[in-house]
Amino acid sequence: MMVCEYKPGLEGIPAAQSSISYVDGQKGILEYRGIRIEDLAQQSTFLETAYLLIWGELPTKEELQVFEEEVRLHRRIKYRIRDMMKCFPESGHPMDALQASAAALGLFYSRRDLHNPVYIRDAVVRLIATIPTMVAAFQLMRKGNDPVKPRDDLDYSANFLYMLNEKEPDALAAKIFDICLILHVEHTMNASTFSARVTASTLTDPYAVVASAVGTLGGPLHGGANEEVIQMLEEIGSVENVRSYVEERLQRKDKLMGFGHRVYKVKDPRATILQHLAEQLFAKFGADKYYDIAQEMERVVEEKLGHKGIYPNVDFYSGLVYRKMGIPTDLFTPIFAIARVAGWLAHWKEQLEENRIFRPTQVYNGKHSVTYTPIDQR
Ligand code: CMC
Repeated sequence: MMVCEYKPGLEGIPAAQSSISYVDGQKGILEYRGIRIEDLAQQSTFLETAYLLIWGELPTKEELQVFEEEVRLHRRIKYRIRDMMKCFPESGHPMDALQASAAALGLFYSRRDLHNPVYIRDAVVRLIATIPTMVAAFQLMRKGNDPVKPRDDLDYSANFLYMLNEKEPDALAAKIFDICLILHVEHTMNASTFSARVTASTLTDPYAVVASAVGTLGGPLHGGANEEVIQMLEEIGSVENVRSYVEERLQRKDKLMGFGHRVYKVKDPRATILQHLAEQLFAKFGADKYYDIAQEMERVVEEKLGHKGIYPNVDFYSGLVYRKMGIPTDLFTPIFAIARVAGWLAHWKEQLEENRIFRPTQVYNGKHSVTYTPIDQR
């Protein structure tokens, strides 16, 4: 057997062959099925992009209409899932609530008919349709309110914002939210996608695949960074404090949240688009002083860490966009999950097409032939 060099974090080691998305980290290029992210952000919708990723081609008008209608019909969650969610502690993190709820779906649809395209389509539709409903339901229930029913006359993103805030969203906000979902839907072999593929490779059900990926996404080095960015900007408090904050953190060897990426060594193209979206929202709904702090921070970090290829990543500006929409900080990562579920499902499907169970090796660096010491002699 070929022995490979151990790379912490599996850096640079291919874990799969995939035709779903592509990143050029030196040039700052991201493509989904070969289409540039900038083009999709400008011209597509989240559901169309999800279809593209999962089925490999842009849908025709009819195919898209059918998919949108299927998703619309499956937005409601079972009352027993809702009742289970009611028992979750209000102080629990919404990502934990989402992970538990996604896993619970498997109790209702646990049939593992993985060779049946109808089973695959149903699971895709059900997960894409219900994850936003679960996020919104937990948000309302932790405030002591009943969840609101989805509205069939609203599109995917507008309906989510309606379920979250109990009022119809502004059209620009809903459009920008939809673009945010496009930007977050897929990103090659990141930690949560890897987690999804490992789980998928055991041939378990897709609800377990999504639940494991949600758990992985929640960590502060992955999707959880967007929450921490806002907390960091609040802690900095003013443009004048940026330089000393950055210097102190770097001296302590602390990471600056929302900066750096394993693959991108230039500014993440999604961060550039999100920054423009934030500016559109500020123009319509008023400025945000944290945006000035963020821009100054980008300048100072570039000066200090640009030579290491550390620039803003997708999480740096997304929080400012969501904040302007009035979304609570601890929902930023669940919103990331609402988008990313379609990417995970594309990888689930691809994994099944040429499956081999993941079973890497390890470099054992422990002891051998150790004598067992009876407990009273230790
Ligand atoms: N702030 C300060 N220094 C950094 C940062 C940062 N955010 N990121 C990397 N570095 C430095 C790091 O100290 C190291 O320096 P040196 O070589 O002198 O020791 C060098 O850059 C390489 O860092 P690394 O930690 O080995 O890089 P990695 O590829 O293992 O980690 C990362 C990538 C995203 C986990 C890391 O950049 C990080 O922790 N960033 C902050 C958290 C964050 O924003 N995460 C969101 C990532 S993008 C979206 C997503 O995946 O969900």
